[in-house]
Amino acid sequence: MTFAPSLDLGLVNTIAAESKMSFIDGTKGVLEYVGIDIDSLARNSTFEETTYLLWNSRLPNQSELDEFTRQIQAEYDPPNEIWDLIKRIPTDAVPMHALRTLVSALSLFDPEADDPSPEANHRKSIRILAQCPALIAGYDRHRKGKDFVEPDSSLGFAENFVTLLTGDKPTETMQKAMDVCLILHADHGFNASTFAALVTISTLSDMYSAVTTAIGTLKGPLHGGANEAVMHMLKEIGEMDKVEPFIKGKLERKEKIMGFGHRVYKAIDPRATYLKTFTKQLAEDTGNLDLYEMSNKIETIMKAAVGARGIHPNVDFYSATTYYSLGLDIDLFTPLFVMSRISGWAGHCMEYLQHNSLIRPRCDYVGPHEMPYVAMEER
Ligand SMILES: CC(C)(COP(=O)(O)OP(=O)(O)OC[C@H]1O[C@@H](n2cnc3c(N)ncnc32)[C@H](O)[C@@H]1OP(=O)(O)O)[C@@H](O)C(=O)NCCC(=O)NCCS
Repeated sequence: MTFAPSLDLGLVNTIAAESKMSFIDGTKGVLEYVGIDIDSLARNSTFEETTYLLWNSRLPNQSELDEFTRQIQAEYDPPNEIWDLIKRIPTDAVPMHALRTLVSALSLFDPEADDPSPEANHRKSIRILAQCPALIAGYDRHRKGKDFVEPDSSLGFAENFVTLLTGDKPTETMQKAMDVCLILHADHGFNASTFAALVTISTLSDMYSAVTTAIGTLKGPLHGGANEAVMHMLKEIGEMDKVEPFIKGKLERKEKIMGFGHRVYKAIDPRATYLKTFTKQLAEDTGNLDLYEMSNKIETIMKAAVGARGIHPNVDFYSATTYYSLGLDIDLFTPLFVMSRISGWAGHCMEYLQHNSLIRPRCDYVGPHEMPYVAMEER
C-alpha cells in the first residue's frame, strides 16, 4: 500500500480519531456533549451528571447518578503523604506547577497506578477527578499560611471545592456558578491538552501520566491560560471611562483583545452565551457589577469593530468575571479549568483505549543528506 502523507502544520486539517463525547459546529456556534446542547446541560445538569454522560455516552438514571456521586465523594480525600507533600511546596510556586506535580505524585500512592484494565482506569479517573479540588485548595491555603480544610464527602463536587478553598460553604448562587463553569469546561473535542493526553495513553502508559501530560499542555496562554489574561486586562483597564480608548487603541495597534476569537468558533462561542447571563447575576450578588458592565461594554465595542469578521467573545471572556466574583485568585483560574477538564481528558483516554492505536505522526525532514562526519579538530 502506498500513501503520501501531507504536511498539516498545527494538525488543523487532521481528524485523528472518532469520538462520541463532544460535537462542535464552529460556524453555527454549537457545542453538544453526547448530542445534548451545552446550554441545556448548563441549565439543568450537574458536573457529576455531565461527567457520567461523557464517560458513559448517556445520562444516568437516579440510582446510577447516586452511585456515581457516592464513588466520587468516597475519593475526595488524597492520601496523607500528599497533604504532607503540599506543605513542602514553595509558597511562591505557580499553582499550575504545584497541581501538575501533585497529580503526578498521586500515582505513587495508588496501587492500581499501572493496572491497565478498563475497570481500574475508571476507578483511577474517579480518583484523579475527586482529589483535584483538595490539591488546588490545599496548595492555595498552604501558600496563604492557612490550615487545610478536610474534604466533606457529604457535599457535591462544586460545593466541596468551594468549602475546601474558603473554609465556608458557598451560597446557592456561588455553588451553581461553580457547577456551571465546571460543566461548560468539561470537554471540547480534540483540543491541545486532550490530544496530548491521548498521545500519552496511546503508548499504553497510564492514566496519571496522561492527565499530567494534559495539565502541562493546558497551562499555556494559547490554551487554558487565556481566562487569567482576560482578568489581568480588566484590571489594567480599571474603570468604565477607560474601556473605549483601551480597546480602540489595542485594535489600532493590531493587538489582540483577550477573551475574543477562537480557532474553531467563528460564530459566538455557545459557552459564552450562557455564562454571560449567569455572570451578570453573580456579579450583582457579589458587588462586582462594575466588572460585568466593563465586559459588556468591551463586547459592544468589539461587536461593532470586528464582529463581522467572526471575532466574538469566547468562554474565557465571561468565565474570568465569574471566577473573580467567586473570590478566586487569578492564578487559580487555570487550575480550575484543569479540575473540570479532567472529566474530558479521562473520558477521551478511556474511549480511545477501546480501539487504541499508537499516535505517531511523521515530520517532513527538510535538513541536508549525505553530509560527512567532520572530526572534532577539523570543525
Ligand atoms: C484564539 C485565537 C488564538 C484564535 O486564533 P486563529 O483562529 O488562529 O486566528 P488568528 O489569530 O490568526 O486571527 C485571525 C485574525 O483575527 C484577528 N483576531 C483574532 N482574535 C482577535 C482578538 N482577540 N482581538 C483582536 N483581533 C483578533 C487577528 O488579529 C487576525 O487579524 P488579521 O487577519 O488582520 O491578521 C485568537 O483569536 C486569540 O489569540 N484570541 C485571544 C486569546 C484568547 O482569548 N484565547 C482563548 C481561546 S478560547
